[in-house]
Amino acid sequence: SVDIPISAKLLRWYDAHARDLPWRSPPGSSPPDPYRVWLSEIMLQQTTVGAVKPYFAKFTARWPTVDRLAAADDADVMAAWAGLGYYARARNLLACARAIVAGHGGVFPANEGDLRTLPGVGTYTAAAIAAIAFHQRAVVVDGNVERVVSRLFAVETALPSSKPELWRLTDTVTPETRAGDFAQAMMDLGSTICTPRHPSCLICPLQTDCLATRNDPASYPRRAAK
Ligand code: ADE
Repeated sequence: SVDIPISAKLLRWYDAHARDLPWRSPPGSSPPDPYRVWLSEIMLQQTTVGAVKPYFAKFTARWPTVDRLAAADDADVMAAWAGLGYYARARNLLACARAIVAGHGGVFPANEGDLRTLPGVGTYTAAAIAAIAFHQRAVVVDGNVERVVSRLFAVETALPSSKPELWRLTDTVTPETRAGDFAQAMMDLGSTICTPRHPSCLICPLQTDCLATRNDPASYPRRAAK
């Protein structure tokens, strides 16, 4: 089992245990709508899955396509966003929808570099959309992935200095195919098993690979002394 790649073990786990979330398509199937992937990733920045679900349902019912969102009144979108917080995201959401209509013919660009030019789309979001919605290989690192990778490799450098190393380590374990499923599997692992305070190492599919499991896993990622 030690010679099976980490990505293969994680994807096998994901195939059996992926969370059924409204912006996903089932593991291994054709990619979900880029509009829904983008909308979900913007909403999920700084906000939990549970809090996002009703807002995602409301937005996709009212504005089912990027064209419809681009044509919405600013005040209607801001009102629909009320309660989610971080309102700069809602302003960028509208700016991005309008940029896609005005500058890209209403079609989401399919690669990370072009995605990164869009309002509100940074390194993480561009990588997530490229991998999840366009099945491209991209290195997707969010807070959950940082924690999982810090433990897997027992990274002793504290965040945020460790960010370049965590990106590089995530790159080394990201598979050539199914990078989107792999990224979402890392997020699910981080949300349900490799949790911040009390990780459930005994049921983790990566337990035999993890350098922290017997060494106080909850103490990773290291934090800089205050
Ligand atoms: N958090 C951010 N993006 C996510 C996704 N695609 N699935 C689960 N959690 C996430």
